[in-house]
Amino acid sequence: MTTTRIAAIDVGNDSLKGVFGKLESEVNIPNVIARDIEDRPIIGIEELDAQSPLDGIHIRVHSPTLKDNNAIYRVGNLATKSTNSTELDPGSSKSEEDQTLVMLFASLALDAAGHEGFKKNNKVIEANYTLGTGLPLREVKEGKDVGYRSKLLGSVHQVEFLVTPQYQGVKVNIRFDEVKVYPEGFAAFINLVMDNNGNIINKELIDKRILIQDIGGLSTDIAVIKDRKVDDDKAQGFNLGVSESLELIREEIRSRHGVELDSRRDVVEIITKKSDRNHIMVKGSRTSVHDIVDRIMLELAKKQYRHLRNMWQKNSQTEICYFIGGGSSVLKEYIKTLNNNLDGYNIDFFEDEKESIWMMVHAYYKLISDYVRKSEKADKVKEEQKLAKSK
Ligand SMILES: Nc1ncnc2c1ncn2[C@@H]1O[C@H](COP(=O)(O)OP(=O)(O)OP(=O)(O)O)[C@@H](O)[C@H]1O
Ligand SMILES: [Mg+2]
Repeated sequence: MTTTRIAAIDVGNDSLKGVFGKLESEVNIPNVIARDIEDRPIIGIEELDAQSPLDGIHIRVHSPTLKDNNAIYRVGNLATKSTNSTELDPGSSKSEEDQTLVMLFASLALDAAGHEGFKKNNKVIEANYTLGTGLPLREVKEGKDVGYRSKLLGSVHQVEFLVTPQYQGVKVNIRFDEVKVYPEGFAAFINLVMDNNGNIINKELIDKRILIQDIGGLSTDIAVIKDRKVDDDKAQGFNLGVSESLELIREEIRSRHGVELDSRRDVVEIITKKSDRNHIMVKGSRTSVHDIVDRIMLELAKKQYRHLRNMWQKNSQTEICYFIGGGSSVLKEYIKTLNNNLDGYNIDFFEDEKESIWMMVHAYYKLISDYVRKSEKADKVKEEQKLAKSK
């Protein structure tokens, strides 16, 4: 019997989120890659291995599914430091970009390298996964999930770690026993109504008509759920996320206060921290940036609210709208205030920002575990029937 490991992976435009096995490990990698155009400087092995593998993902990827086979990439944090790094273009198709696959394979290889259960010869790991993942509703509607799935299933994909802390020279051969590709909006709904054992946990919600507005880093998707299904025709996606607004805040802090923040992540930290929110230090003095943040975030919240209103008009029998995704955590208070002053829709947010951001991947995990459980059961029944016959 082969050992297969469960993997649930959400390749978000902003970051990849993955959970593995019996949920004992997870990864979060910024969705940024850079083709290696110059050699990564060789640093002393001790110095290198003192770092986390996550901060130095440097890999060669062999896979017939890639348009560019055998290319070398820096992935995640390491790529953000490169001058030629690429982020996904919101208008592109996730299922057709090498970037999606490179991210997916990198995250699996990282998990495999840190996992004891796979067969390993020298530095070659044979990794078998049962994968649950997703694509935007639009791509599933166009039928792209079918090709995406068969590309993954049909071949062996190899990730070779190059100058990566702790994993230098390790090669991981990735095979999939099964791949399920779920539509993103539907997955969020599943997470709301099902627990990790496949039981229904929210009987009241399951037959309601609901909207799910997922505000991510670069995009917003609104799913319409009716009769326990997503209504493909009604769902809508917009190329509007929270990243652009975070960038604007960062620029204005630089021009007004002369303070250079390293990344959008720093902006998120400033506007979400529990104590001293919306304050920065300028030359050692505590300084408020509340006005900058409020103006820019309110602007974005208004745009998001317009989309909500529009969707509600087209789906007048909606009972509730859930806001999920990282953007929803950042915009929560602004959208709530607008809603109180304007239409007063029945809307809900998730208190915990991690829950909001990991919603999709937890749903994939529930769905793929449920699938594994059911197919194991079916196998067992078949075994028993075989045994009974042979008696
Ligand atoms: N605690 C947090 N950790 C990370 N990002 C956060 C946090 N709180 C808010 N954010 C913001 O949420 C955004 C990421 O949201 P999310 O992970 O939902 O996007 P994504 O799924 O990767 O992108 P998309 O939905 O556009 O494909 C980031 O731009 C970040 O600024
Ligand atoms: Mg997302």
